Amino acid sequence: MNIFGGTTEHFGIDIGTNALRVVQLSGGGTKYNLKSFASAPLPPGITQSDSRLDYQKISRTIQDLTKQAGISTKNVVAAIPGTSTFNAIVKIPPMSQTELEKAIKYQAEQNIPLKIEDVKYDYQIIKEDGATKELTVMIIAATKTKVEQLLGILEGADLNVIALETSTVAMARSLARPEVPLAMVLDIGSTTTEIAVIENGTLVQTRSFPLAGFGMTRSISQQLGLDMSQAEQFKQRFGLSQDKLEGQVFKAIEPILRNILDEAIRSTKFYEEQFGKSVQRIILTGGVSRMPLIAEFIKSYTGMEVMFGNPWTNVSYASNINDSIMSMAPEFATSVGLAMRG
Ligand SMILES: Nc1ncnc2c1ncn2[C@@H]1O[C@H](COP(=O)(O)OP(=O)(O)OP(=O)(O)O)[C@@H](O)[C@H]1O
Ligand SMILES: [Mg+2]
Repeated sequence: MNIFGGTTEHFGIDIGTNALRVVQLSGGGTKYNLKSFASAPLPPGITQSDSRLDYQKISRTIQDLTKQAGISTKNVVAAIPGTSTFNAIVKIPPMSQTELEKAIKYQAEQNIPLKIEDVKYDYQIIKEDGATKELTVMIIAATKTKVEQLLGILEGADLNVIALETSTVAMARSLARPEVPLAMVLDIGSTTTEIAVIENGTLVQTRSFPLAGFGMTRSISQQLGLDMSQAEQFKQRFGLSQDKLEGQVFKAIEPILRNILDEAIRSTKFYEEQFGKSVQRIILTGGVSRMPLIAEFIKSYTGMEVMFGNPWTNVSYASNINDSIMSMAPEFATSVGLAMRG
């Protein structure tokens, strides 16, 4: 979602439920250099709050973090969580640019389940039919309330917002690989799971829902009678192994993960119906991708090949920070993608 255009020097910021992440790169195309990156934890629940005081706290944390990381610009590109956006894929016959803008507005009104006055929308042409010149267009709309909240937080941190993007658009940029022309990115975070079908580097389908790691921890806490921090430890330690604690942790997590994967499978089916090709690979990212045995579980449940996303593939950095960079790969896909925006 490009609320404003802009190609100036900038950094990327991902305000996730668990943490803030910032990344600044130089270079472009397929070769970037890392200038700085950092993350800072956020107090539980703060990003879901609608209190001004909490926004101010986030603004201050952003100021501290950019200073500590040595970010050298005030220009920022930030992510809008997919759960605050709506998207629709529509087909439009060939027409002039002015007519196209009107057609998009009409399609947005028809397909976005909110009043057009309450959203900011943007679009991306995904495909043009070689013979008929019919366009396949993805319309993405974000609620004005969320956009204004985000702008408030960033401007409160004395930053100059040059663009907002949905996080899946950013992840498509950092995780797409030429050797994997068609894949589904599955980002399982704390409160949100984001799904992005990517074809030849372009996002062709996206979907988000509020079910992810936090729900798994809550389920462990309820079913095993543990407090949330113990449940978190059990989740990270035992994950999906069935021979630990008589499989109790597995049993608490499994139904939630199945729900997430059912949504993912629905997305691939939908893509297959629209584009006639089948998605056979999942690129896994987000904090939950660290869970023991998750790749094995996903592979056997979906029958798809599972690989772990690495947003740093096209980024050069000093070899002595390789371990720390790679250890944070699951959490940085969005922020790296935002920093890569041209
Ligand atoms: N080793 C692990 N095993 C299982 N889950 C883990 C592990 N490490 C982190 N997590 C989970 O990952 C989640 C956080 O992921 P991430 O940092 O991607 O979320 P976020 O981007 O801050 O949140 P969101 O995208 O939902 O706003 C938490 O639920 C955390 O418990
Ligand atoms: Mg996230």
